[in-house]
Amino acid sequence: MAINYHAEDRTITLHTRSSTYQMQIAGTGHVLHLYYGHRVDGMCLDYLHILTDCGFSPNSYENRLRREVSPDILPLEYSAAGCGDYRVPALECMSDAGLVGADLRYVRHEITDGKYALPGLPAAFAEAGEAQTLSLILADAATGLEVELLYGVFEAADVITRAAVFRNNGDAAIRLDRASSLCLDIPFGTGPSGGCWDLLHLHGRHCMERMPERVRLMHGIQTLGSRRGASSHHNNPFAVLMASDAGETCGECIGIMPVYSGNHRTDIELNQAGSVRVVSGIGGDLFAWQLDPGDCFFAPEVILCRTGEGLERLTHLCHDFLNRHVIRSPWKDKKRPLLINSWEAMTCDFNAEKVLKFAEEAAALGIEMVVLDDGWFGARDDDNAGLGDWFANERKLPGGLKPLSDAIHGLGMKFGLWVEPEMVNEDSSLYRTHPDWVLAVPGRKPVMARNQLVLDMGRSEVVAYLYDVISTLIQENGIDYIKWDMNRNIADTFSAALPPHRQMEVSHRYMLGVYALLDRLTREFPEVLFENCAGGGGRFDAGMLYYTPQIWCSDDTDAIERLTIQMGTAVGYPVGTMGAHVSACPNQQTGRTTPFGTRAIVAMSGTFGYELDPAHLSEEERRQVRVWNERYYRFYDLIHRGKYYRLTGIDRQVDYAAWAYVREDGSQALVNLVVTRAHANTHGFHIHLRGLNAQARYRLAEQVIEGCEAPDGTYLGGMDLTGRVFTGASLMIAGFTLRPMRGDAPAAQLLFEQTDAEEM
Ligand code: DGJ
Repeated sequence: MAINYHAEDRTITLHTRSSTYQMQIAGTGHVLHLYYGHRVDGMCLDYLHILTDCGFSPNSYENRLRREVSPDILPLEYSAAGCGDYRVPALECMSDAGLVGADLRYVRHEITDGKYALPGLPAAFAEAGEAQTLSLILADAATGLEVELLYGVFEAADVITRAAVFRNNGDAAIRLDRASSLCLDIPFGTGPSGGCWDLLHLHGRHCMERMPERVRLMHGIQTLGSRRGASSHHNNPFAVLMASDAGETCGECIGIMPVYSGNHRTDIELNQAGSVRVVSGIGGDLFAWQLDPGDCFFAPEVILCRTGEGLERLTHLCHDFLNRHVIRSPWKDKKRPLLINSWEAMTCDFNAEKVLKFAEEAAALGIEMVVLDDGWFGARDDDNAGLGDWFANERKLPGGLKPLSDAIHGLGMKFGLWVEPEMVNEDSSLYRTHPDWVLAVPGRKPVMARNQLVLDMGRSEVVAYLYDVISTLIQENGIDYIKWDMNRNIADTFSAALPPHRQMEVSHRYMLGVYALLDRLTREFPEVLFENCAGGGGRFDAGMLYYTPQIWCSDDTDAIERLTIQMGTAVGYPVGTMGAHVSACPNQQTGRTTPFGTRAIVAMSGTFGYELDPAHLSEEERRQVRVWNERYYRFYDLIHRGKYYRLTGIDRQVDYAAWAYVREDGSQALVNLVVTRAHANTHGFHIHLRGLNAQARYRLAEQVIEGCEAPDGTYLGGMDLTGRVFTGASLMIAGFTLRPMRGDAPAAQLLFEQTDAEEM
């Protein structure tokens, strides 16, 4: 059993393959958090906590004569403001009777087989036998607020999911001001590093998403979050607590990943006692929810996982878990079509003839799907008009989308379409017909971004309208793929459909509407591949991955910039979820020119596709397209199902980036290296592989070197090791060196294969 209750010491223990999570119901009804760490079987771990009298840390009434017992110091399983715990609370609330906060005490618990679900929200799922659920109910006697803590224990996957349900069993309404799903207290001194922790998080901006940053925890509270109405380019919801001595292949790492795409918030507090509290879930400061008597509120899920084996292992746990238990699209196991997207080639400036020519050129290169991006609908000639009018612009596309779709299908290609359902331009018939459908504060001019407004997705009639429009588009035009964009953040969080006291619910109701629409469309059209996008990767999160198996990683398609963006993203999210394309050079965002092969190697580390005009390719580039298409398909399984290894780590102090995909059984490794800064008189690039079978023998089956000038005509970088046989141990422990490569951003791709040969 993954979950056990031990009646004698009143402990509840959750076991995953390598971890133990334990809590204890104290005599006062407080639920204490005892332990989350490496697996320890058959032990009550309450001895870990030393009680000390701590000045200015108060006591519950029952413990008024036991000053060493304070809710401000005790590790608590879940804590609310107002109960004598001054650390960052997981719950903040106020009842209509004026009662602030809650004093949560144990009521009951239940252990069931299977994984709980959260109505209207994305959440991890399990097949029979893969998960168990603990439901732990706490309540505040004064207000009648009940908090049900949900734990999904995925033993084999080594993951615990957390969620919380809030029920008002009292007589007065209760306003939830903060309703987090996860509270995790890590007591002082526990953990192999003696309790010193770093925080690894993914910050960024548009065109530079998910930059990894590792900082030492300081005393006080560090907050990661978004108040933009989207999980954001700026602070991705995924974060990792790393023991200060943890690295890529060693040490304690705890991953926290909200399964939510709206305003989120994670607070990490290092407190007076040297203990750490993590509180994570739905965003606090732009959120409140009115719970009338009898109502309940489901807070979004947070995935929790840990390892004592370093960041690499944590990455593998997250990748496997998202692939297996979060991404639900049937497309996750299918080969994604090799696509070409029209955006960088044409923006909104096209007509049917131009698109067809684009498709024909692409078909001749072996590309399988044309995606018609922004500009095909309404009065859309630039980004100032037309959003909301999801019918074809007849001036550009006479007869609508159908003739174009037919012609593209006639070329043996698939046809994909861009939409931005959540948005509207003032200059559109949708806005002229339904001006009240947008989020806008009465009496104030709306905050504009990209000259567009945001639809009130919390309104069921808006969602129903969008469902009709998009499902008709798909059906009538045989659409094979939808790119679902969202190009601004939300500012005017006021809904004309809600009373004043519910206005703080707008952002969450918005997300529930987006999820409802995505849920319906993706269920109804399982054969359509959905790619999520929000001005690049502004909503790259586990919530979106539940519905859409891939997400456009960034509007920055420069190969060198993408190295950091994709490496940062892949700390938590699987490689196969990252939309990545080869674009034209000089790159539209940076002006940089990189070799074609370098761009292809980087884009192969994602869903792969093109973002250029094939008519502008030289003969040599056309040859390269064919070569890289073939390589992408040949290595598709290795990249999408193999294990991903960062060979140069996350703190890219070196002037090259290297990473590898290794088949699960260790029999094949595809090694990639890109030189990001050229130096004179260098001595090559040393790499240690990982994930191979130490005793097995390997040969260098292939090596491709791109964009490298031969300094004296005698070699072209790479390895001069043809014919050598290595052991897995030699490649992993001693490593190997690639010779220096000259040129702007040269790259190498090497394939090692296990062999029976002694020598070659
Ligand atoms: C932002 C996306 O990230 C781009 O790829 C493109 O679809 C534009 N929007 C279109 O407006």
